[in-house]
Amino acid sequence: MPAQTPPRTFHVKSFGCQMNVYDGERMAELLTAEGMTAVDARETADLVVLNTCHIREKATEKVYSDIGRLRRDDGTVPLIAVAGCVAQAEGAEIMARAPSVRVVVGPQAYHRLPEMVAAATKGSRETATDMPAEAKFAALPQRRKSGPTAFLTIQEGCDKFCTYCVVPYTRGAEISRAFVDLIEEARALVDGGAREITLLGQNVNAWTGEATTGRAIGLAGLAEALATIPDLARIRYTTSHPADMDDALIAAHADNPKLMPFLHLPVQSGSDRVLKAMNRSHSADGYLKLIDRVRAARPDIALSGDFIVGFPGETEAEFADTLAIIDAVGYAQAYSFKYSARPGTPAALMDGHVPATVMEDRLAQVQDRINRDQLAFNQASIGRRCQVLVERRGRQPGQWLGKSPWLQSVHFSDEAAIGDLVEVDLISAGPNSIAGQRVG
Ligand code: SAH
Ligand code: SF4
Ligand code: F3S
Repeated sequence: MPAQTPPRTFHVKSFGCQMNVYDGERMAELLTAEGMTAVDARETADLVVLNTCHIREKATEKVYSDIGRLRRDDGTVPLIAVAGCVAQAEGAEIMARAPSVRVVVGPQAYHRLPEMVAAATKGSRETATDMPAEAKFAALPQRRKSGPTAFLTIQEGCDKFCTYCVVPYTRGAEISRAFVDLIEEARALVDGGAREITLLGQNVNAWTGEATTGRAIGLAGLAEALATIPDLARIRYTTSHPADMDDALIAAHADNPKLMPFLHLPVQSGSDRVLKAMNRSHSADGYLKLIDRVRAARPDIALSGDFIVGFPGETEAEFADTLAIIDAVGYAQAYSFKYSARPGTPAALMDGHVPATVMEDRLAQVQDRINRDQLAFNQASIGRRCQVLVERRGRQPGQWLGKSPWLQSVHFSDEAAIGDLVEVDLISAGPNSIAGQRVG
């Protein structure tokens, strides 16, 4: 490849989960610290970072079509870096299939992005897919600016090896970031404007650490320490695994007023046979008992989940068990997916792959119930008075958008500013948002 002038502008596009978005922000901060300027339009950026997701086949395919679309009308291409989980899983293949890609960098190695970009401008093609993640965090710059809500990765990687999932391979083994580093990063985010922090991890509730006193703590202890930061108003966390939902964390939902009444706790299926084949370490009934304990601690908690329909061998009766567990829980919101066979995972080699049309039908049934329950949850909120954290302006003049404690989108029209926590009466509900009225 010919040498080119060093990029002055960049654009990072993130395709994946919240941790992928967090990584995208950190890469942008790194490039900014190198003197480059972020631009919104990728058509004009000298450097484009595609921060990819490998979780389902569709997500992965997007990468290649996106690379193709980066070619400009005059035939030139920007300097292209592919980051994220597809880079980790298929780095060599990307380099072979897409000659315009100059940098491939995995999710545990992106602290090296600036030096890789510098080498690529001199004409080489660079790949970094080393693990694990410890070195990365130490090498990232201090956080500076933040919106009212911020993400903070506290735990990364996964040792659970659900048989359908690529994450243990793309993100590596579970690691917990050190307590002091997290307190420092949280303080910097709050100093930079954050009022709400969402703690992130593939298994966020598997986080363990040592408080400054030397005491061993889990996520509940971390949340308790974070709650002492005066200007931090709200703490959230995602995604949790049922196996790591310990008593202390359940109790924290009763005792820590800054911990928001919302829990994303995926169950994936309602069938014990399927759960076992998925290598989930819980039964449907064990999950429901856990939900009972969480609700006993925090009766108003909003529950969220993830579902996979059409896992290999899933029968109609097993699928009916999934519908039944949805009915039993009554989710405030949930995500559902058609099973997608991923290369290298055990489930991809299982018998009984479910036809696409059957999966589509099952997905529609799951989504109908989830939508029904989401609307019911929103309607049941009418008459509540709660705080809303204002995140942005709405479409109507004078209108503001923010989130309730239960993570519902609330809009209201009144005097306000981004980052305000305002008292609002919830007055009418739709499936995806709630109309509120500011108190006083
Ligand atoms: N660590 C988190 C998130 C994993 S990915 C957790 O365990 O919940 C987010 C969701 O994607 C999963 O919960 C699962 O519902 C879905 N998912 C993962 N692999 C998938 C696959 N191969 N096909 C379809 N959905 C999948
Ligand atoms: Fe994937 Fe299971 Fe790990 Fe979640 S817990 S990241 S679904 S392997
Ligand atoms: Fe996707 Fe990687 Fe997140 S595969 S869901 S970006 S951990």
